[in-house]
Amino acid sequence: MKPTYRLVSCCTILGTVPSLISVSIRVHSPRARIFPLAGLTLIIMREFHPPVLSLRGLWGESVSSSALDVAAARFDVAMRTHGVLYIEDCGLSDELVSRLRRKAVQFFQTGKIDKSDSDTYGAEGYTGIGRETVGTSHTNQVATRDIVESLVLFSADSVACPDELRDDVRQYLQHSKRISLLLVRLMAHALNEPKVIDMFDGEEYPLKIAHYPAAVSGTQGYGAHTDYGSFTLLAQEYGDAFPAQGSLQAFVDNTWCVVPPRKGALLVNSADLIERLTNGVYKTPLHRVVLAENRTQSRLSIVLFTAPKRNVKVAPLEKCCSKLSPAKYEPVIAHEFVQRKLQRNNGIATSLAS
Ligand SMILES: [Fe+2]
Repeated sequence: MKPTYRLVSCCTILGTVPSLISVSIRVHSPRARIFPLAGLTLIIMREFHPPVLSLRGLWGESVSSSALDVAAARFDVAMRTHGVLYIEDCGLSDELVSRLRRKAVQFFQTGKIDKSDSDTYGAEGYTGIGRETVGTSHTNQVATRDIVESLVLFSADSVACPDELRDDVRQYLQHSKRISLLLVRLMAHALNEPKVIDMFDGEEYPLKIAHYPAAVSGTQGYGAHTDYGSFTLLAQEYGDAFPAQGSLQAFVDNTWCVVPPRKGALLVNSADLIERLTNGVYKTPLHRVVLAENRTQSRLSIVLFTAPKRNVKVAPLEKCCSKLSPAKYEPVIAHEFVQRKLQRNNGIATSLAS
């Protein structure tokens, strides 16, 4: 199938303006293209459309083995190729996601935020704009600071949770944790390794509400990185904000590709500890968030980061290793590994770049 491309920005001699039209075209070239034309430059990027998995019929105790087989096989292929898929019918209502999104935007824009807490990166609470440098977690090098502010919550009962968000955060956390455990079950089934289910308990998963403001100049929402834990569940901005205001991009087949949002679906990507657990059989996608230069709207993403239990030792599964493919990764303790990457995201940038 020929790749699909999307017009992501339109630059004139007067500067870059967001593309006002959303165009999806099919062309032969495998790479992003820049078309200069009499003072007008169209930047067209390849699109990556992850496979879609419906979770319908997979809830509860009485799931048919054939339904589980089919879903696990689909999940397995997605993880082995790029480590990304869309999930649908996952029990999160559009109303809940929209309501939480609307209230969260209000929260970030009304200014009722205690910014004295902005140094608590990695813990619960608010993290201010320019505090994160997620590219550093991947390269261990000084990187450009990310134009994002966020609210991280482990629980709706946290004092860090604004009252107006509390009920929706509670529902969102309950549903998304259930989804994450179902994904683990699919992985265990696909790998025929039931014991991996015991490595996860669905507790202490941070919900991160990330807000990319329109009023701050620059285009790096999040620098290129991989996620740290097991699976990330992302409710992407959907609607007018894409692609005119910015996009999630994944590095696929040696090319940065736009990942279009899908209505009513969550985007799932695997993270470092899954790659380590499967000895690289399941891939962890490199990704970033790129904002439009002259955007007129903010973006907001709702992200659940999951990970194995804190003190679980994560080492390559025997069945993912062989003489031809020996273990590539040293065992790590899940919590220590994630903390090291979190510190790189913040600490190195602070000591070297500030
Ligand atoms: Fe990420």
